[in-house]
Amino acid sequence: MMEDKGTPSAAGAEASDYNEFDPAEYLQCFYSAEVTCLEEEDSFMCWILSRLHRAFSEGDVRGDLLVDVGSGPTLHQVLSGCELFNKVILTDFLEVNRKELKLWLHGGSKMDWTSYLKRVCELEGRSPSEWTQKAARLRQVVTDILPIDVHRPQPLAHDALPSAGADCLVSSFCLEAASPDLASFSRALGHIGGLLRPGGHLLLIGALEHSYYIGGAGVRIPVFAVNEAQVCDSLKQNGFTLIRLEVFQVSAETIPDKLSAVVDAKGICFVKARRN
Ligand SMILES: C[S@@+](CC[C@H](N)C(=O)[O-])C[C@H]1O[C@@H](n2cnc3c(N)ncnc32)[C@H](O)[C@@H]1O
Repeated sequence: MMEDKGTPSAAGAEASDYNEFDPAEYLQCFYSAEVTCLEEEDSFMCWILSRLHRAFSEGDVRGDLLVDVGSGPTLHQVLSGCELFNKVILTDFLEVNRKELKLWLHGGSKMDWTSYLKRVCELEGRSPSEWTQKAARLRQVVTDILPIDVHRPQPLAHDALPSAGADCLVSSFCLEAASPDLASFSRALGHIGGLLRPGGHLLLIGALEHSYYIGGAGVRIPVFAVNEAQVCDSLKQNGFTLIRLEVFQVSAETIPDKLSAVVDAKGICFVKARRN
């Protein structure tokens, strides 16, 4: 299953593609130590963590509430932001993912985020041994783990957020993995923009020109193969001002063999944008 790259599909995911998603398999495939190589400065995961760290440390991102859109079963995307915001809301479309996040919150998850916590402590100039404080901080500030559907004009329950909206949104590998085509990707970006207060920031991590990913044993989930120009256009169309877009080039030289066997993305993009 893991070695089968298959032919790229033109279209991305429909909701039914998520019926068999398995958080444990997904974490094993994309977040295990031999894939993320956190001890290597030039690994794709260190690149993502350092982009997040920088975006949150520049002084312009501030407020009370951070919302992570389409969290899946992962936490790497909020390890920097949790130090800045007093409230963090995690969200996902799937109950199995929300359950996995709740397990971690209550100390019952099999997924070990220690190396990620240590790495982000280092980025913050702290000793890696302070990872336990970071884990405690994250557990303290996560106030909710909520269902979300980015294809609804109102993606969260109407009373889930304060009327002013969130101060910052993070979203990692969600929109392109949840959208069948460009129109749907762009609409979804507009929908999540509605969760953000004017002047609030969006930190968007996504795969570029990627056609599918492994969401479980034998589960191939199609991805809409968005490119950099389409991301920029969608941001503009949906009332965002782009602050920065950076790309990590994905190739057999830049990612481990185990990952390149199952990933056909050309790159990973990191966007920092502000809602007008
Ligand atoms: C590739 S995973 C990304 C998970 C995680 N954020 C990460 O960085 O690894 C895509 C996520 O999008 C979620 N998703 C799928 N359809 C969605 C929808 N309509 N609205 C919101 N999230 C959705 C899935 O449940 C899954 O957790």
